[in-house]
Amino acid sequence: MTKFVLTWAFQLQELLASKPRVHPAVNQVEVHPFNTRTEITSFCQAHDIVVEAYAPLARALRMQHPTIVSLTKKYSCTPAQLMVRWSVQHGFVPLPKSVSKQRIRENGNVGGFAIEESDMQMLDGLDEYLVTDWDPVDCD
Ligand SMILES: NC(=O)c1ccc[n+]([C@@H]2O[C@H](COP(=O)([O-])OP(=O)(O)OC[C@H]3O[C@@H](n4cnc5c(N)ncnc54)[C@H](OP(=O)(O)O)[C@@H]3O)[C@@H](O)[C@H]2O)c1
Repeated sequence: MTKFVLTWAFQLQELLASKPRVHPAVNQVEVHPFNTRTEITSFCQAHDIVVEAYAPLARALRMQHPTIVSLTKKYSCTPAQLMVRWSVQHGFVPLPKSVSKQRIRENGNVGGFAIEESDMQMLDGLDEYLVTDWDPVDCD
């Protein structure tokens, strides 16, 4: 059960240092191959905080990226499935959004393949700090 959700990742260290009675359970932050947020996700995972990855499809802005297209051919999947699978294999909880029933089903159907470690690293390497909404490390 989620006790509460944190969005402002930069406050985590301060919060944990205060030794809260209730340990933070979830941090919801934008995470996808084009914005990997490694510092935040590593910190969360080291402190037993679940990373809830919002905009895990990078808001469909990079579906035609050559690396994405090439890996979809290798794994016989769609770009959305590849990005959701990348998120799951990192141990995150991705929150893909679609208004289409067919796409919602597609996005949840990622159990039939596994991305090889070398390809996970290739996807990690796509990081370009693509912020599709707001930036938790750059706000008051
Ligand atoms: N905590 C926060 O500050 C915060 C900020 C932003 C978002 N969120 C949450 O994160 C969730 C997802 O975020 P998001 O909607 O911004 O980004 P997203 O899930 O990365 O991308 C959604 C976009 O991808 C398209 N899409 C979905 N499935 C697809 C597929 N299989 N093939 C091709 N295109 C596909 C959608 O179009 P269609 O709908 O037309 O299919 C939509 O344009 C939402 O629940 C949102 O509330 C939280």
